Amino acid sequence: MATSPPAFPYASAMEVLFSNIRIAERVHEIGAEISADYTGKSIVLIGVLKGAAIFLSDLARAIEVNNTFDFVAVSSYGRASKSSGAVKLIKDIDEPIEGKHVILVEDILDTGLTLSYLRGMMLQHKPASLKIATCLDKPARRLVPIEADYVGFQIPNQFVVGYGMDYAEHYRNLGDIRLFPEDAAGH
Ligand code: IMP
Repeated sequence: MATSPPAFPYASAMEVLFSNIRIAERVHEIGAEISADYTGKSIVLIGVLKGAAIFLSDLARAIEVNNTFDFVAVSSYGRASKSSGAVKLIKDIDEPIEGKHVILVEDILDTGLTLSYLRGMMLQHKPASLKIATCLDKPARRLVPIEADYVGFQIPNQFVVGYGMDYAEHYRNLGDIRLFPEDAAGH
Protein backbone atom coordinates (compact mmCIF):
# COMPACT_ATOMS: atom_id res chain seq x y z
CA MET A 1 0.00 0.00 0.00
CA ALA A 2 1.39 3.43 -0.96
CA THR A 3 2.07 5.81 1.92
CA SER A 4 1.93 9.62 1.52
CA PRO A 5 5.10 11.57 2.39
CA PRO A 6 5.21 13.21 5.85
CA ALA A 7 3.99 16.83 5.84
CA PHE A 8 7.30 17.99 7.32
CA PRO A 9 10.07 15.66 6.15
CA TYR A 10 13.20 15.37 8.28
CA ALA A 11 15.92 17.81 7.18
CA SER A 12 18.28 14.91 6.64
CA ALA A 13 15.85 13.46 4.05
CA MET A 14 16.11 16.57 1.86
CA GLU A 15 18.94 17.01 -0.62
CA VAL A 16 21.47 19.76 0.16
CA LEU A 17 21.57 22.35 -2.63
CA PHE A 18 24.09 24.70 -0.95
CA SER A 19 26.02 23.68 2.15
CA ASN A 20 26.57 26.07 5.03
CA ILE A 21 30.23 26.23 4.03
CA ARG A 22 29.41 27.18 0.43
CA ILE A 23 26.90 29.78 1.68
CA ALA A 24 29.47 31.32 4.05
CA GLU A 25 32.02 31.58 1.22
CA ARG A 26 29.51 33.27 -1.08
CA VAL A 27 28.27 35.66 1.61
CA HIS A 28 31.87 36.74 2.22
CA GLU A 29 32.36 37.34 -1.49
CA ILE A 30 29.25 39.52 -1.64
CA GLY A 31 30.31 41.32 1.55
CA ALA A 32 33.68 42.14 -0.05
CA GLU A 33 31.96 43.34 -3.23
CA ILE A 34 29.60 45.61 -1.25
CA SER A 35 32.51 46.90 0.87
CA ALA A 36 34.38 47.86 -2.31
CA ASP A 37 31.31 49.46 -3.90
CA TYR A 38 30.56 51.61 -0.84
CA THR A 39 34.07 52.55 0.32
CA GLY A 40 33.93 55.68 2.47
CA LYS A 41 30.12 55.55 2.74
CA SER A 42 27.77 54.03 5.25
CA ILE A 43 24.88 51.75 4.37
CA VAL A 44 21.46 50.91 5.74
CA LEU A 45 20.60 47.25 5.22
CA ILE A 46 16.84 46.66 5.19
CA GLY A 47 15.91 43.01 5.65
CA VAL A 48 12.57 41.51 4.67
CA LEU A 49 11.26 39.46 7.58
CA LYS A 50 11.39 36.69 8.33
CA GLY A 51 13.24 34.94 5.55
CA ALA A 52 16.11 37.41 5.15
CA ALA A 53 16.99 37.66 8.86
CA ILE A 54 19.72 35.01 8.75
CA PHE A 55 21.23 36.14 5.44
CA LEU A 56 21.22 39.76 6.69
CA SER A 57 22.94 38.87 9.96
CA ASP A 58 25.75 37.09 8.10
CA LEU A 59 25.97 39.70 5.34
CA ALA A 60 26.12 42.64 7.79
CA ARG A 61 29.13 40.99 9.47
CA ALA A 62 30.82 40.33 6.12
CA ILE A 63 30.56 44.01 5.12
CA GLU A 64 33.50 46.11 6.27
CA VAL A 65 32.01 49.55 5.71
CA ASN A 66 29.87 51.18 8.35
CA ASN A 67 26.36 49.71 8.29
CA THR A 68 23.15 49.76 10.27
CA PHE A 69 20.11 47.59 9.78
CA ASP A 70 16.37 47.79 9.85
CA PHE A 71 13.58 45.37 8.94
CA VAL A 72 10.28 45.43 7.09
CA ALA A 73 7.65 42.72 7.00
CA VAL A 74 5.18 42.03 4.22
CA SER A 75 2.29 39.64 3.84
CA SER A 76 3.78 36.32 2.86
CA TYR A 77 2.86 32.93 1.48
CA GLY A 78 1.49 31.98 4.90
CA ARG A 79 1.03 28.26 5.29
CA ALA A 80 1.06 27.56 1.58
CA SER A 81 4.06 27.79 -0.72
CA LYS A 82 2.36 29.62 -3.59
CA SER A 83 2.21 33.38 -3.92
CA SER A 84 -1.20 35.01 -3.81
CA GLY A 85 0.27 37.86 -5.85
CA ALA A 86 -0.82 40.49 -3.34
CA VAL A 87 1.80 42.21 -1.18
CA LYS A 88 0.87 44.14 1.95
CA LEU A 89 3.19 45.97 4.35
CA ILE A 90 2.90 44.63 7.89
CA LYS A 91 5.91 46.37 9.45
CA ASP A 92 7.53 49.57 8.16
CA ILE A 93 11.12 50.81 8.68
CA ASP A 94 11.91 52.29 12.11
CA GLU A 95 14.40 54.98 11.01
CA PRO A 96 14.17 57.51 8.14
CA ILE A 97 16.27 56.61 5.07
CA GLU A 98 16.14 59.93 3.20
CA GLY A 99 19.60 60.73 1.78
CA LYS A 100 20.99 57.34 2.85
CA HIS A 101 22.53 54.49 0.88
CA VAL A 102 20.08 51.61 1.21
CA ILE A 103 20.38 47.94 0.32
CA LEU A 104 17.18 45.88 0.47
CA VAL A 105 18.09 42.39 1.65
CA GLU A 106 15.86 39.45 0.65
CA ASP A 107 16.08 35.68 0.96
CA ILE A 108 14.68 34.82 -2.49
CA LEU A 109 13.83 36.89 -5.52
CA ASP A 110 11.07 34.77 -7.03
CA THR A 111 8.16 36.36 -8.93
CA GLY A 112 9.62 39.77 -8.02
CA LEU A 113 6.30 41.07 -6.65
CA THR A 114 7.62 41.58 -3.11
CA LEU A 115 10.79 43.42 -4.07
CA SER A 116 9.20 45.57 -6.74
CA TYR A 117 6.57 46.67 -4.21
CA LEU A 118 9.24 47.36 -1.56
CA ARG A 119 11.54 49.11 -4.00
CA GLY A 120 8.71 51.46 -5.03
CA MET A 121 7.90 52.14 -1.40
CA MET A 122 11.55 52.80 -0.44
CA LEU A 123 12.08 55.15 -3.38
CA GLN A 124 9.28 57.35 -2.05
CA HIS A 125 11.52 57.98 1.01
CA LYS A 126 14.20 59.47 -1.32
CA PRO A 127 17.29 57.46 -0.35
CA ALA A 128 20.65 58.60 -1.84
CA SER A 129 20.81 55.19 -3.54
CA LEU A 130 18.89 51.91 -3.46
CA LYS A 131 20.21 48.47 -4.35
CA ILE A 132 18.98 44.92 -3.82
CA ALA A 133 20.84 41.94 -2.37
CA THR A 134 19.24 38.51 -2.48
CA CYS A 135 20.56 35.20 -1.25
CA LEU A 136 18.81 33.26 -4.03
CA ASP A 137 17.39 34.25 -7.40
CA LYS A 138 14.85 32.21 -9.38
CA PRO A 139 14.81 34.14 -12.70
CA ALA A 140 12.48 31.61 -14.38
CA ARG A 141 9.64 32.54 -12.01
CA ARG A 142 9.71 36.30 -12.59
CA LEU A 143 6.33 38.00 -13.17
CA VAL A 144 7.58 41.60 -12.99
CA PRO A 145 10.85 43.00 -14.36
CA ILE A 146 13.25 43.35 -11.45
CA GLU A 147 16.85 42.23 -10.92
CA ALA A 148 19.06 42.17 -7.84
CA ASP A 149 22.41 43.96 -7.73
CA TYR A 150 23.97 41.27 -5.51
CA VAL A 151 22.93 37.62 -5.91
CA GLY A 152 24.16 34.72 -3.80
CA PHE A 153 23.11 31.94 -6.16
CA GLN A 154 20.76 31.57 -9.12
CA ILE A 155 18.55 28.50 -8.95
CA PRO A 156 15.98 26.91 -11.25
CA ASN A 157 12.31 26.66 -10.35
CA GLN A 158 12.71 24.53 -7.24
CA PHE A 159 11.27 25.04 -3.77
CA VAL A 160 13.99 25.36 -1.15
CA VAL A 161 14.17 25.63 2.62
CA GLY A 162 16.81 26.47 5.21
CA TYR A 163 19.09 29.45 5.93
CA GLY A 164 16.02 31.54 6.81
CA MET A 165 13.72 30.11 4.15
CA ASP A 166 10.64 28.23 5.24
CA TYR A 167 7.93 25.85 4.29
CA ALA A 168 4.91 26.75 6.47
CA GLU A 169 7.30 28.44 8.96
CA HIS A 170 9.43 25.30 9.35
CA TYR A 171 13.11 24.75 8.47
CA ARG A 172 14.28 28.39 8.75
CA ASN A 173 16.92 27.23 11.23
CA LEU A 174 18.69 24.80 8.89
CA GLY A 175 22.29 25.79 8.17
CA ASP A 176 22.24 24.36 4.65
CA ILE A 177 19.83 25.30 1.86
CA ARG A 178 17.90 22.13 0.95
CA LEU A 179 15.47 21.08 -1.77
CA PHE A 180 11.96 20.65 -0.44
CA PRO A 181 10.19 17.69 -2.09
CA GLU A 182 7.91 18.80 -4.93
CA ASP A 183 5.02 16.55 -3.91
CA ALA A 184 4.90 18.03 -0.41
CA ALA A 185 5.32 21.67 -1.53
CA GLY A 186 2.79 21.64 -4.38
CA HIS A 187 4.95 24.35 -5.98
P1 IMP B 1 8.23 37.02 -4.70
O1 IMP B 1 7.39 38.19 -4.33
O2 IMP B 1 7.48 35.99 -5.48
O3 IMP B 1 9.55 37.39 -5.35
O4 IMP B 1 8.44 36.25 -3.37
C1 IMP B 1 9.56 36.24 -2.64
C2 IMP B 1 9.25 35.49 -1.36
O5 IMP B 1 8.61 34.23 -1.63
C3 IMP B 1 10.53 35.13 -0.68
O6 IMP B 1 10.94 36.15 0.17
C4 IMP B 1 10.13 33.90 0.09
O7 IMP B 1 9.57 34.25 1.31
C5 IMP B 1 9.07 33.24 -0.76
N1 IMP B 1 9.63 32.14 -1.53
C6 IMP B 1 9.77 32.07 -2.87
N2 IMP B 1 10.34 30.91 -3.26
C7 IMP B 1 10.58 30.23 -2.10
C8 IMP B 1 11.19 28.96 -1.83
O8 IMP B 1 11.65 28.21 -2.71
N3 IMP B 1 11.27 28.62 -0.51
C9 IMP B 1 10.82 29.41 0.49
N4 IMP B 1 10.25 30.59 0.27
C10 IMP B 1 10.12 31.00 -1.02
